[in-house]
Amino acid sequence: MVGKPVPEDKFSFGLWTVGWRAADPFGDATRPELDAVEAVHRLAELGAWGVTFHDDDLIPFGSDTTERDRRINRFRAALDETGLVVPMATTNLFTHPVFKDGGLTSNDREVRRFALRKVMRNMDLAAELGASTYVLWGGREGSETDAAKDVRAAMDRYREGIDTLAQYVRDQGYGLRLALEPKPNEPRGDILLPTIGHALAFISTLEHHDMVGVNPEVGHEQMAGLNFVHGIGQALWQGKLFHLDLNGQHGPRYDQDLVFGHGDVLSAFFLVDLLEHGGYEGPRHFDYKPPRTEDIDGVWASAEANMRSYLLLRERALAFRADPRVVEALERSRVPELSRPTLAEGESPADLKADRTAFEDFDADAVAQRGYAYAQLSQLAFEHLLGAA
Ligand code: GCO
Ligand code: MN
Ligand code: MN
Repeated sequence: MVGKPVPEDKFSFGLWTVGWRAADPFGDATRPELDAVEAVHRLAELGAWGVTFHDDDLIPFGSDTTERDRRINRFRAALDETGLVVPMATTNLFTHPVFKDGGLTSNDREVRRFALRKVMRNMDLAAELGASTYVLWGGREGSETDAAKDVRAAMDRYREGIDTLAQYVRDQGYGLRLALEPKPNEPRGDILLPTIGHALAFISTLEHHDMVGVNPEVGHEQMAGLNFVHGIGQALWQGKLFHLDLNGQHGPRYDQDLVFGHGDVLSAFFLVDLLEHGGYEGPRHFDYKPPRTEDIDGVWASAEANMRSYLLLRERALAFRADPRVVEALERSRVPELSRPTLAEGESPADLKADRTAFEDFDADAVAQRGYAYAQLSQLAFEHLLGAA
């Protein structure tokens, strides 16, 4: 039995998730607009800890200063009343037609300069509201034809853009770190920085690489047929998991943005297990879409479902780790042995070469007979996930 979510669980939601009006490429919106103030109150009642937003979620594109201030003040008052925090904010560089060829990597230099200014403006607000992470999802950075995009030049501009923004954060003395969100495609035919791996490699080329990490989304890696748990493992290992977007996806197809766990549930179990024992202390942020079939009651039911799914998986993952049979099975599978360095302390390549037991006297055929007992371990995990262990 899991209880109601509490702020310590660090659950956060994008305003654009519960606020999604469910217009899709084939049909009109099925739900009315949701007031940001109402969203903040309802999320707080459900036990969420934080709320995140794109500039345009809060302040419609093109609003004048008076309207902008009015909206920010109402939002801030709702935060004060509920105690909800803003751990992250981001920029919409994809809805307005001006961004049809991207923001930071549009072929049009004027668009790139406008995009940078739009990000900087919302960074000011993010810092003011106490956010610590600024996400950049380059959904429109990419192309439909390879004739049109000089990828090497685009990477130069991407790097210039991110370094300029990081420099801005430093100049202003903001406590923000930047997190790049990979996605392989949709809305562009092909998006730049399509996977966690591409993003990590790109980050290593930045002047301000220490300030930049990743914001991986479950469904995005799965759209590319990749193992999300492995991607998160590597991002954690590189100290680059600044934030993450939890949701569900059924394999490689369009971006489904389902409720967390409502896709590859086994992968969700191992993800929660990794987050809970792997040292990740950041927000558990949900980036999903309440299904288009739902009215507002269904929206709140789906928001609750995300948190409940996480709590249920956490309960199962903790039980898995605590089970003495699992500890024994892990041992049998030599999982802890992988943490032991391959060379002995102070051992040099020459020492290894001199160790006859490592090669000349090593009986490969005999060692090849050892089983790893992964079948038993894997089934134990499965049974814990189903609550049958
Ligand atoms: C998607 C993306 C977006 C981004 C968000 C932050 O579903 O394709 O995840 O939801 O996360 O726009 O910029
Ligand atoms: Mn998505
Ligand atoms: Mn996302």
